[in-house]
Amino acid sequence: MAPKLLSDFFVAFFLFFSQSAVAYNVVSFGARGNGKTDSTLGFLRAWRAACASRTPSEVYIPRGSYVVKPVSFDGPCKTKITFRNDGTLVAPGNINSLGNTGFWIKFYKVSYLSVIGGTLDARGSVFWQCRRKGYNCPAGARSVTFMWCNNVNVRGLKSYNSQTIHIAISHSNNIKMSSLYIRAPSGSPNTDGINILQSRGVTITGSTIQTGDDCVTVGQGSMNVWIANIGCGPGHGISIGSLGDSYNEAGVQNVTVTSSVFTKTQNGVRVKSWAKPSTGYAKNLNFRNLIMKGVGYPIIIDQKYCPDNRCPHQSSGVKVSQVTYDNIKGTSATQAAMKFECSSSKPCTGIKLRNIKLTYVNTRRLPTLAYCKYASGSRSGTVSPRSCL
Ligand SMILES: *[C@@H]1O[C@H](CO)[C@@H](O)[C@H](O)[C@H]1NC(C)=O
Repeated sequence: MAPKLLSDFFVAFFLFFSQSAVAYNVVSFGARGNGKTDSTLGFLRAWRAACASRTPSEVYIPRGSYVVKPVSFDGPCKTKITFRNDGTLVAPGNINSLGNTGFWIKFYKVSYLSVIGGTLDARGSVFWQCRRKGYNCPAGARSVTFMWCNNVNVRGLKSYNSQTIHIAISHSNNIKMSSLYIRAPSGSPNTDGINILQSRGVTITGSTIQTGDDCVTVGQGSMNVWIANIGCGPGHGISIGSLGDSYNEAGVQNVTVTSSVFTKTQNGVRVKSWAKPSTGYAKNLNFRNLIMKGVGYPIIIDQKYCPDNRCPHQSSGVKVSQVTYDNIKGTSATQAAMKFECSSSKPCTGIKLRNIKLTYVNTRRLPTLAYCKYASGSRSGTVSPRSCL
């Protein structure tokens, strides 16, 4: 290469990288990674500067532990933006500081966003203790929220001990999440892993979720959801629902859960709806290539969900159809390995079972059983417990 070409090359090289990484370091904006100083304003100022940048920009969090109060990172931004975190964000010690707002870290109306790495510790234990006693507790906060966001990529995020939900996605499209690690103690109340609501094109892959409630929930108005290579448990499993709590509800469709392992969860793959009238539905659900290890109810449709008896003598209006269970193996912690408890007014249709082998944990002399109520469909290959469809 001629010297001129070479220098041009380096100039181009430098420009390319400086353009792709205009970094706004939160420390330069007043944040302190000492585990004590309130760094909320430093984060917010760095976000505002990055968000206003006309070239692709990055909010950068270096190593350290940052105390951050509830904060909303609002868009729209001028162009694509990255939130690159090499540090740990910790919630303030006072549970009310988070618990009264409902949110801790919120991304609101941001598009073309990448969230790379980082640890969040909401320190939920004092809040859970309050919840267990059951009086004068704040409502509780979700740790990360993506609301009205499009084209988001979240990679390598760790979230610990959320007061309530760890990651909430609502009214958002094209969200890709991978290599997440979510953890809260198995007894912690309502500490869902990831909740999806009113969103389209959500992909969650290669993640470990261990919580006190559902690993993932897919709620009303969600479609084209892909969940793969998840290690779920302890927790309550992966749920479609709860659906049909309100009368006017958008449906759920085209959801796939595949290549995942459930360990000692209360349920495996569950469809859950309230036993009361609703316009909601769930269709085209695909559960395949799943391993169950000591799971309470590996395969379950529960349309009689009604805590506190808020719907006596009613049936669910949520129509469940086109549900495929294919290649699901392992052990059930109860004899009821397969349970379809559908709605008497809107029976389940088009349930397909193929290659299911679930044995009763430890006591292989007793068979596992299938229960069907208002459910119809077909089976092929080996199905054990014997299908009741
Ligand atoms: C179903 O969702 C997947 C993503 O999970 C998507 O690739 C596929 O195109 C969707 N199918 C339909 C019919 O929309």
